[in-house]
Amino acid sequence: MRLLVSEVHVRVDDLVAPLFVREGISEPQPIESLPGVVQHTLDSLRREVTELVGLGVKAVILFGIPAQKDAVGSAAWDPDGIVQQALRALAADHGENIVLMADLCVDEYTDHGHCGVVDEHGNVDNDATLELYMKSAVAQASAGAHVVAPSGMMDGQVAAIRGALDDADFSDVAIMAYSAKYASALYGPFRDAVDVSIADGGDRQGYQQDHRNVREAMREVELDIAEGADIVMVKPALAYLDVIRDVASSVDLPVAAYHVSGEYAMIHAAGERGWIDTDAVALEHLTAIKRAGANVILTYFTRWFAEHAVD
Ligand code: PBG
Repeated sequence: MRLLVSEVHVRVDDLVAPLFVREGISEPQPIESLPGVVQHTLDSLRREVTELVGLGVKAVILFGIPAQKDAVGSAAWDPDGIVQQALRALAADHGENIVLMADLCVDEYTDHGHCGVVDEHGNVDNDATLELYMKSAVAQASAGAHVVAPSGMMDGQVAAIRGALDDADFSDVAIMAYSAKYASALYGPFRDAVDVSIADGGDRQGYQQDHRNVREAMREVELDIAEGADIVMVKPALAYLDVIRDVASSVDLPVAAYHVSGEYAMIHAAGERGWIDTDAVALEHLTAIKRAGANVILTYFTRWFAEHAVD
């Protein structure tokens, strides 16, 4: 009876698996703060995605860790950059059988860890950064990305990327915009995963959103839609369910939510101590995110869900 009258079910089709691929390693590297998640080699990434396809997973999003970082993050748009290599390999392996998404930002590629070009005062230069994102979008699309996902929160990034993609004949490549992305303390384990620490104890409060605000989130979402976003995202998820709900009820685009690294790590950490039931809490969280209105959920629980979860 409970199943018959239940309102929301998470399905594997709703989920996107975030995957890390690192240049210059010969074995996958575990990430201590993200149990069960690894930095992949190109080969182990290919095996993982083949298994995910076999499990019915419909989408992955790639993050790269380059061998060399520099001031502008040039490996982000190098045709031989690690994510571009990975996209080419996965596109050849799977064609249209899985949606290939690429996170589009430079923080994994810069030696200072910021999401853009830093000026002489240590501030991120918004408009100079857009140029880098445009080059990265075209590099990712050329390598086979079906979706590019700008996560840097620069003003005007969606319009700039849409223009660059259209000019390069990639009008069918979609943009999933990290629209309402908060300057959250929940990204800690992710920064371990991509070997990023922000220079001089800096943070991203200059470009990511203040956790006290929700009207600002709606403004960011509306701007991204006007600029050409195809999917809009709220991130993190659990502490921002009200934002997901507000966005979902006021836009007519698909809404994504990112259940981020810290959210995953907290569940595992408490579960390891026997303080909570890891699987039950994971399912409860994913269901809550969907119930709030997200159609697309990016989560490190994707493989677990595809293998084990019975809703
Ligand atoms: C930026 C990016 C971040 C995450 C996704 N894209 C980190 C940040 O903004 O500092 C975080 C994802 C997570 O915590 O799981 N490229």
